[in-house]
Amino acid sequence: MEELEIIKLPKHIAIIMDGNGRWAKKRGLPRVMGHKAGMASLKETVRACSDLGVEFLTVYAFSTENWRRPMDEVSFLMNLLVEYMKKEISELHENKVKIKVLGEMEVLPEQTRTEILRALELTKDNTGLQFNIALNYGGRLEILKACKEIAQKAKAGLIDTDKIDETLFAAHLYTGTDLDPDLIIRTSGEKRLSNFLLWQSAYSELVFMDVPWPEFNRQSLLDAIHEYQSRDRRYGALK
Ligand code: IPE
Ligand code: IPE
Ligand code: MG
Repeated sequence: MEELEIIKLPKHIAIIMDGNGRWAKKRGLPRVMGHKAGMASLKETVRACSDLGVEFLTVYAFSTENWRRPMDEVSFLMNLLVEYMKKEISELHENKVKIKVLGEMEVLPEQTRTEILRALELTKDNTGLQFNIALNYGGRLEILKACKEIAQKAKAGLIDTDKIDETLFAAHLYTGTDLDPDLIIRTSGEKRLSNFLLWQSAYSELVFMDVPWPEFNRQSLLDAIHEYQSRDRRYGALK
């Protein structure tokens, strides 16, 4: 493997962790076993990002559209999150990881919400990797929510409509003042965003990998970063 250029390390990596169900099906296992296996990939990825000194890692764990799946799969995913938090929280905290949730938490099952709130509270002052979990997250919902909040503030006279700019708008998204993702990785061979970080991905580099999420590991992450480092980011300007 060629060396990574530390200076060009992405500050914010976002991942669409896809392909769990197909990975399991290929092995004659129930789909949910793919989600379970994917937890090991998540663990390895968080650790690798932490070690590399990446500032933000955002993972897509559950979309606003994923409620359309069978109830037993949804419940399994919600319970898996509880399990993940219980098992991983002490190591995450030790490594100074700060956990944040992007998405609507109110409608999550009680136990999932409780466990997550505990993790947020415990790690809120940590100064290491910021680990964003996009959970019950939808890019369109996020944009609409920001519009509503801004409209209400404008109506109440708290915001001058002439002052609505990109910075003010972004501040009303779940990501707030977080940097936009430099690199978005999607596993499993699908080549779409599926409602992920629609505003924030304006100038992200997209890397699509065939590997299903349960087989994604540290080396896959390094490969994706390497691909990112070969790109020429122009932001509409000329070189
Ligand atoms: C991604 O894997 C995990 C979630 C969406 C929660 P999938 O469950 O979408 O796996 P495939 O795409 O059906 O293989
Ligand atoms: C996107 O994957 C959501 C997550 C990875 C959590 P999906 O599997 O839900 O996306 P589609 O349905 O293939 O677009
Ligand atoms: Mg999928």
